[in-house]
Parts: sequence; C-alpha cells; structure tokens
Amino acid sequence: MSYNAPVPTVTLTTSGKRFDAAGDETVLEAAQRAGIALPYSCRGGVCGSCKAVLVEGVCDYPRNPPVALGADARADGAILLCQAVPRGDIAIRAREIASVEDIPHRRVDVEVVARRELAPEVVGVWLKPVDGSRLNWLPGQYLDVVLDDGRHRPFSIASGPVDDGSIELHVRYVPGGGFTTWVYESLKVGDRLTIEAPLGTFVPREDSERPMLFMAGGTGFAPVKAIVEHFIELGTRRPMHVYWGARQPEDLYLIELAREWERRMPGLRFTPVLSDIDAAWEAGIRAGLVHEALLEDHPDLSGFDVYMSGPPPMIELAREHFAGSGLPDDRLYFDSFELAPDVLAEILRSRAGIHGL
Ligand SMILES: Cc1cc2nc3c(=O)[nH]c(=O)nc-3n(C[C@H](O)[C@H](O)[C@H](O)COP(=O)(O)OP(=O)(O)OC[C@H]3O[C@@H](n4cnc5c(N)ncnc54)[C@H](O)[C@@H]3O)c2cc1C
Ligand code: FES
Repeated sequence: MSYNAPVPTVTLTTSGKRFDAAGDETVLEAAQRAGIALPYSCRGGVCGSCKAVLVEGVCDYPRNPPVALGADARADGAILLCQAVPRGDIAIRAREIASVEDIPHRRVDVEVVARRELAPEVVGVWLKPVDGSRLNWLPGQYLDVVLDDGRHRPFSIASGPVDDGSIELHVRYVPGGGFTTWVYESLKVGDRLTIEAPLGTFVPREDSERPMLFMAGGTGFAPVKAIVEHFIELGTRRPMHVYWGARQPEDLYLIELAREWERRMPGLRFTPVLSDIDAAWEAGIRAGLVHEALLEDHPDLSGFDVYMSGPPPMIELAREHFAGSGLPDDRLYFDSFELAPDVLAEILRSRAGIHGL
C-alpha cells in the first residue's frame, strides 16, 4: 500500500487566502501557481524583499540558505518566501500585491528593434514581440531573458507599456558576464531573444497619499524611470523627490530626461549624486553616496513611501539606514540587482563548500 503525504496548505493570515504547496515547491512558487502575488525580487535568497513572518508551522531551506535573514530576524519568525519550503501546514503574515495578480505571465519571442549606447558601459535595447502581440506589465516590473541553455537573466523594463508596444531595457556590462558581454559587444537590431514577463513586484503603490522618494543607483534608474513616468502621466499631486547616484557624470546617462521631469512637474525634484568626489566637483554635481544625500535632505522618513533600485551594496546600506530613520519596512519598495538565481545558487554552494557547511 502506498502512502501519499498530505500536501501542505499555506494560509495568509491577513486575507485568509489559502493555497497548497506541492512537492518541494517554495511558498512563493506555490502562491504564484495559485495566482496570488507575494513580494519578491532576486529569487535567490539574498535580497530580502520577499521577507514574511511565519505565524504557525515549520519551513526549511533545501535550496539556497536564507542569506538575507539575520539571526534576529530568524528568531522573530521571519522567513524568505522565495526559498522557504513548508513542512506541513503553515500560516504566514505577508504583504499581497493585488495589482500584479491579474497580468498573465508569458514566454514570448522578441526582436531587437533598436540599440543605443547610453553610457560607456550601458546599452539601451528596445524589443518587440515577433508575433505582433503586445506584452502587458506594470511600470517597474522586470523580464527574464531565457538563454539557449534555459538559464534566465533578469532585466528591469525601463518603460511602461507604450503605444508602439516596445519594451525598453538598460543593460550594464558585467565583466566576466556571459549575456551582458554579448549584449555589449555583439547584439544588433534584428537579433531575436526569448523572454518571460512580466515578473517582480516593484510597482507603483497608488493606495497612498504620502510623498514619495525614489533612489536609483546606476542602471537601477530603469525601473525608477518607469514608475516616475507612470506617476507623471497620472498627474499625481503627491510630491516626488528623485535621487540618482553613480560614480562618473557619464553614468547618469538620462540626466537630461530627469531634469525635464523637474521642469514639467512642479511637485518633482531631481538630485543627481556622484560618488567620485573630483568628478562631482568638476561637473558641479552633488558629491557623496546617494543614500546619504537622501538622508541629509530627509532625515525623518516616517512620512514617506520610498522606492529604490540598483546594486546590492547600495540597497543593503540604504535598508539599514532608512529603517533607522523611521521608515516602516512595509513602505520601502525595492529591487536589488542581484545576479541571476542560478549564479547566486552556484556562488552560495561554493561558499558553503569552502566553509564546510
Ligand atoms: C530583479 C532584477 C532586475 C535587474 N535589472 C537590471 C537592469 O535593468 N539592468 C542591468 O544592467 N542589470 C539588471 N539586473 C542585473 C542583471 O540581471 C545581471 O547583471 C545579469 O544577470 C548578469 O548576467 P550575465 O550573463 O552577463 O553575467 P553572469 O554570467 O551571470 O555572471 C555575472 C558575474 O558573476 C560571475 N560569476 C558567474 N558564475 C559564477 C560562479 N559560479 N562563481 C563566482 N562568480 C561567478 C561572473 O564572472 C560575472 O562577474 C537585474 C537583476 C535583478 C535580480
Ligand atoms: S531573498 Fe527572496 S526574492 Fe530576494
């Protein structure tokens, strides 16, 4: 006689919704299969955007270790939805992002319709579905490029869905990176790619009247651009202050666009920041780290919604300092530009090997 173990059920304590988690599915995968949108970004266990609280039951981490959770967070019952696998029924307290639930996620072949060098190491790429269909997404979401061997490479969409149906990406060259090197050196108009989209939960939150702060680092400007343009199009009356940090002036590759926003929108301020002090001095741009500039201007964050996107070290530092400046966890929305999940998994595996874990 064979015995089938019961399938664990996950209950969301806030809404009361329930779904099953089959086999070794993570909570995030099971929720997605059930059409329920929970927050996530890197899907590798390192960025922390999928943090939730385990109210009842047990989970474990058979894939990547929950690197984004400190000992205190784990002691407080925090789990990472992208890695936690339920062992039996569980109840969790997690934010649901209803706005992304209704948009179908699909795999589609696209053609490169334009390519432009935006900065010395940043390429702008515009894509359109080959079959003439239109892709739908929310501003700030990202797509996965599916490589020939099935691995995925995530990139934020720098525009909202626009009339001509094109999808704009800002791709930074990563030294030693397979896909971005190919984009940088070889990609041309007419090339075809396969993508999966839309993904991610870094999207505008419109159920708030609070003023908004945006912070981008490098190509983290891509999703911030999409979200800011969305609010401009809506004609929002909520004040917006956009910070964009980079090292050199040429890395602020769309600075004129951001200055144009400031001219057009009375409630929008734009502050570029350069970490290279000499270059900042020469260019007449504010010098320092972008999160420090934001905190100098807004030392009390308790009344704001904050959106940020960019390299992991910037995100990590900012999360720590913003929490200490009164920003509640659930009003900080972010995408951390981590490496792809397969690369993260490999790096974490080799680290575990080195440390004999
Ligand atoms: C949600 C999200 C949105 C993103 N949006 C953007 C965006 O809009 N624009 C943008 O420029 N970037 C973005 N990124 C980052 C982007 O996805 C990565 O830069 C990209 O995946 C790199 O791909 P690659 O194939 O070029 O590099 P990979 O081949 O994946 O290599 C990346 C780096 O890791 C090293 N590496 C690879 N394998 C190993 C290993 N086993 N051990 C140690 N090191 C290794 C490589 O040498 C290289 O330096 C985003 C990331 C996320 C998570
Ligand atoms: S840690 Fe789970 S999405 Fe990044």
